[in-house]
Amino acid sequence: MAAPGENLRINPERLWDSLMEMAKIGPGIAGGNNRQTLTDEDGEGRHLFKRWCDAAGLEMGVDEMGTMFARREGSDPSLPPVYVGSHLDTQPTGGKFDGVLGVLGGLEVVRTLNDLGIRTKHPIVVTNWTNEEGARFAPAMMASGVFAGVLDQADIYQHTDRNGKKFGEELERIGWKGEEKVGDRKIHAFFELHIEQGPILEDEGIDIGVVTHGQGLKWLQVTLTGKESHTGSTPMPKRRNAGLGMARVTELVHEVAMDYQPDAVGAIGHMEVYPCSRNIIAGKTVFTIDIRSPEKEVLDAMDGRIREGIDLICEALDIKYEIEQVGHFDPVTFDENCVKAVRDAAERLGYSHRNIVSGAGHDACWINRVAPTAMVFCPCVDGLSHNEAEDISKEWAAAGADVLFHAVVETAGIVG
Ligand code: GLV
Ligand code: MN
Ligand code: MN
Repeated sequence: MAAPGENLRINPERLWDSLMEMAKIGPGIAGGNNRQTLTDEDGEGRHLFKRWCDAAGLEMGVDEMGTMFARREGSDPSLPPVYVGSHLDTQPTGGKFDGVLGVLGGLEVVRTLNDLGIRTKHPIVVTNWTNEEGARFAPAMMASGVFAGVLDQADIYQHTDRNGKKFGEELERIGWKGEEKVGDRKIHAFFELHIEQGPILEDEGIDIGVVTHGQGLKWLQVTLTGKESHTGSTPMPKRRNAGLGMARVTELVHEVAMDYQPDAVGAIGHMEVYPCSRNIIAGKTVFTIDIRSPEKEVLDAMDGRIREGIDLICEALDIKYEIEQVGHFDPVTFDENCVKAVRDAAERLGYSHRNIVSGAGHDACWINRVAPTAMVFCPCVDGLSHNEAEDISKEWAAAGADVLFHAVVETAGIVG
């Protein structure tokens, strides 16, 4: 299979300009973005992406989960395409690059192919997966999960946000519910470029992370029910304090994760307190525990210990609990050949690189179940992500997209 010459590079200015242009849609309050899934801003971002795809001569398909697939034809249209992409949705206080770099990096791959007049044998499809973040509707990596057959579409349509709005209805409302059946596409390979979202590459001064594995995750949504009563007049022994229960579980999750260092992590990011009045003891709390580990046994052990701990905490405080698993995937091993294509690309281009495990979940983690998949990481400043201050340099973005370009084009094959 012909490899593109060492000298071929994407256009760093164009990639950066597109990233900055997309970041104008759904601005945050502190320099980042709030373009949560299926909001009007998400719809607007999708239209901009489509306009760019149209201008690049790509043909857009949209499936029933709203995932966008922009196709550049190959010399043999019957061959399964090489897919590339990530997500355009963000956290409520998200950065400009988480996900967006992977989609616009993919677009930059085809724009560069157009500039160079290169035809690939396999078609190339640039993808924007719906609701990767899972901030508005749980779980994360929703559309790729349905695509891979691990989540049920009919069930997902019923999932609600905190205002009771249904996923399926919001998808129709923003006008991006397509007609294509989800998961029907044959994928030759999938490559996702992403910022590392951790500090390793920057600390070690390395350009490219060759992602070999992704850690597993569980999200447990916990509801604690005590009794609302007056903060001033309820005697301490008579309180049934769901807020205190949540505080103890928060501590428990941290301690359990600390027992499985150096790799395991755990935290509670989503917390709701009812009725949330200064002088009422919380009668109900709802919160989501996020635990992760690269080892399935560790993840399962953490899950078990947390459930036992919650039982003891609630018994001591005379409160009730319910636990619902609202997200889960096992640790992932990416495809050997795709990983090699990423490593070879970095090597050929003269970029420093190292193997790395992804701490975050990605659409690639689900797609890996149905097609050979790999990821490319570039550094981000201070390893900070899921924060409006998330930042990368133009050079880091370009190096990541160069590696993506070479890995994708080598896998798709060049004509002639
Ligand atoms: C997805 O962004 C996750 O890792 O939570
Ligand atoms: Mn992401
Ligand atoms: Mn994210």
